[in-house]
Amino acid sequence: LRASFAPRAQKQTQKFENRVQAQASTFKVAVLGAAGGIGQPLALLIKMSPLVSALHLYDIANVKGVAADLSHCNTPSQVLDFTGQAELANCLKGVDVVVIPAGVPRKPGMTRDDLFNINANIVRTLVEAVADNCPDAFIHIISNPVNSTVPIAAEILKQKGVYNPKKLFGVTTLDVVRANTFVAEKKNLRLIDVDVPVIGGHAGITILPLLSKTRPSVSFTNEEVEQLTVRIQNAGTEVVEAKAGAGSATLSMAYAAARFVESSLRALDGDADVYECSFVQSELTELPFFASRIKLGKNGVEAIISTDLHGLTEYEAKALEALKPELKASIEKGVAFAQKKA
Ligand code: NAI
Repeated sequence: LRASFAPRAQKQTQKFENRVQAQASTFKVAVLGAAGGIGQPLALLIKMSPLVSALHLYDIANVKGVAADLSHCNTPSQVLDFTGQAELANCLKGVDVVVIPAGVPRKPGMTRDDLFNINANIVRTLVEAVADNCPDAFIHIISNPVNSTVPIAAEILKQKGVYNPKKLFGVTTLDVVRANTFVAEKKNLRLIDVDVPVIGGHAGITILPLLSKTRPSVSFTNEEVEQLTVRIQNAGTEVVEAKAGAGSATLSMAYAAARFVESSLRALDGDADVYECSFVQSELTELPFFASRIKLGKNGVEAIISTDLHGLTEYEAKALEALKPELKASIEKGVAFAQKKA
């Protein structure tokens, strides 16, 4: 078995390397919080992208080893490490996409909002540095509570006079990844085919999967809708409880964040057919920020897809109204934090 497997594996590797090396590697990506549970596997996945020429890894500690380790992978991007505030500016200069998974994760019994006090300050400091050093970059915010940290980032960028709403994204890709997985399992569909838009925000009931808009079209009983919706909303807590104090989702999150980075890079590279869900400044509802499907282009958000909100089921329409007060309060909490500190 080994004899027949080895040459095939070698051939596959060679094919992968040829493909990687044939592409132009043109973009610089920075990960802030790169030594963490999400940061490390995310950095690995980004290191595999043929669209990345430089991968800048920043953390307050332990990032040197992560960078040394990753730099031995024979993919084209150059890996550089940056430790502590004094090296943050250099990390960010010339970067096209900044991904921020810095901050503390949940422990059992905590809501995402319980992380506010620590993570709000971390996001504030990091986004100030982004504003000063790469104001034109796409900014991907992973640090929770996303429903508040994205409005905080927007306020900081406004205070610095460089806010571009088309380039600030709350990463909600994991909600879509989970929805796709759970629906495919339940309905016995091929995973690769399934796409469920998830709208609203990224915490509890603000996460609203639009199961009626699942592609390929599939029908659900009322019980299935209820069961799937609740599971998707609580999937983060499922992982927090299974890890029993050792953190929250890191591997599936890294996978989801890497998908969003790759989509952003493809858009920057001129691909005209890139759609993702993300929590962005929006006029879809009366709320100033809202997650929905967006079309990505070279300049960031090219269009916010409104059609997903047409013809909602009664269940979805009710859930949409029910999530608005909580999402509004989280947005306002973020804005107030950033304005108070200004
Ligand atoms: P972790 O604790 O394993 O890693 C966080 C990293 O951030 C650590 O390496 C730490 O040194 C670093 N860090 C702390 N302060 C920093 C600062 N001022 N500047 C730069 N780096 C700093 O946590 P994990 O599991 O990686 O989670 C990170 C964040 O992502 C949490 O806020 C968590 O709630 C959030 N998250 C978001 C999800 C989403 O869907 N958007 C899903 C899962 C987690």
